[in-house]
Amino acid sequence: MNPQPFAAAPADAPSLESLRVEPLLTSAFDTDPAGVYAQLRRMYGPVAPVGLMGVPVWLVLDYREVLDVLRQESVWRRDIRYWRARAEGRLPQDWPLLAGYEVRQTMFMDDEEHLAARQTYHSALGPFQDARTPQGWELRSAVVSYADELVAMLAAESGTAGFMDLAAQYTRPLLLMVTTRLFGFPVELGDEMVIDMWRMLDGGPDAGPATGRALAAMTRLAAHRRAVPGDDLTSYMLLADPSLSDEQLGRELFMNAVYLNDITGNMVCNTLLEVLRGNATVRRSLSAGQIGETINRAALANSPVANMCFRFAARDVRLGNFWIRAGDVVSPSAAAAHQDLMAIGSSLVDSTVSTRAHLGWGAGPHQCPTAARELAGTVVATAVGRVFDHFTKVELTLPADQLPWRSGPVVRGLRLLPVRYELGPGHPTTGDPARLGSVRAAANGAPRPDPSHASRRHARGLLQALRHLMWGTRKGG
Ligand code: HEM
Repeated sequence: MNPQPFAAAPADAPSLESLRVEPLLTSAFDTDPAGVYAQLRRMYGPVAPVGLMGVPVWLVLDYREVLDVLRQESVWRRDIRYWRARAEGRLPQDWPLLAGYEVRQTMFMDDEEHLAARQTYHSALGPFQDARTPQGWELRSAVVSYADELVAMLAAESGTAGFMDLAAQYTRPLLLMVTTRLFGFPVELGDEMVIDMWRMLDGGPDAGPATGRALAAMTRLAAHRRAVPGDDLTSYMLLADPSLSDEQLGRELFMNAVYLNDITGNMVCNTLLEVLRGNATVRRSLSAGQIGETINRAALANSPVANMCFRFAARDVRLGNFWIRAGDVVSPSAAAAHQDLMAIGSSLVDSTVSTRAHLGWGAGPHQCPTAARELAGTVVATAVGRVFDHFTKVELTLPADQLPWRSGPVVRGLRLLPVRYELGPGHPTTGDPARLGSVRAAANGAPRPDPSHASRRHARGLLQALRHLMWGTRKGG
């Protein structure tokens, strides 16, 4: 089953174009992707041809084959120019996924260009990955502070007990605030960007123009931080590679914004769900402070990056039961591979699969950079921890198997996370100066200066911008 890179496909081997493909993104996939993966596996084996909005793609389902594809970069290329259907002009002009793949950034680079781009990330994200550095400490303390602002706002808007959507009224605004802070958006630009990110991520009718505006906003941010450097990722990227043009940095920030908003946000919701749906092992691990283990379990059960981005075969190669031809497109599925991994684990007597074997961060040369993983892990752990610090009661108001999911070609995330809640007696309130004490304690480090007035004003400005998105038009905003 391993790829045999040096053999050519026999002439009579069926090509991707000649196979009858079933569309992947159906309502069955929305409600039960595991059932769809299992059926594809029964029909085709470890690799299946599927249709993605009318374009045929090989979906890689089994753990070993997914790992092979992720690790062998000489066979499986990221540069979109390897894609034969694109080079031959066979992709529909208005194919919804094309615009994203045409944004040329680190994920879609190969070899030396890719290594250099990763090195830039390594240098620029490094200061934020570790809670012992000033930047790392400040970031963690900002996450705590934003989480507390949101809880205070909930208490003011909806009272100390009631119903809320932990996705719309906590996770999403929190991640947008963190992005604004980490990227170094000035308030005016931040508000504008925040609203467009929501439009873009929700894929509504104005998502296209909103995407264009978000890219343009990232490019303006790059230019702004080149002129006025700050203690933020954008400025550190420029410091690491001053040759980056504003446009290229804008494209990198755009991709990072998707990771930091949608994907990290999904990881927060999925981890909250793991705890809330009452899995006793998970609850124990959270109360024992093993939040990392809870995140791993959530990543294994519901990987936020369900199907990883495309790879293109550099030459004919055998994978699963098929010959993949040079220039064919494959999508390695972390979600399907996890299902396979757990099936392997449960078939081995006295053996369980390590939760760390998940592919939620990818694998091989394009896996999520260590510094980004550390940073995202800190944000997720802090965001989840803060919920269980402040709420004495949080219960799902829908059975876990009836929660609505958004299943796209790449990302899978909860649309809603509706809960009944009760806040504890010491919960934060708006304008509560005592809260800063808890911010400092929760940031768990030596005494540091309080977050600046400017930073708090910044958070308040953003909250005002987000208020009507979190509570609808009821309270204006
Ligand atoms: C919980 C949150 C996150 C998850 C689950 C996640 C997951 C992933 C995965 C699966 C990949 C590999 C995609 C592929 O091979 O097709 C990836 C790549 C990447 N991630 Fe993350 N990520 C997260 C957060 C972040 C954050 C916060 C940043 C930056 C601020 C980031 C930056 C990157 C970059 C730059 C790459 C591309 C690496 C390359 O192509 O060499 N990620 N991430």
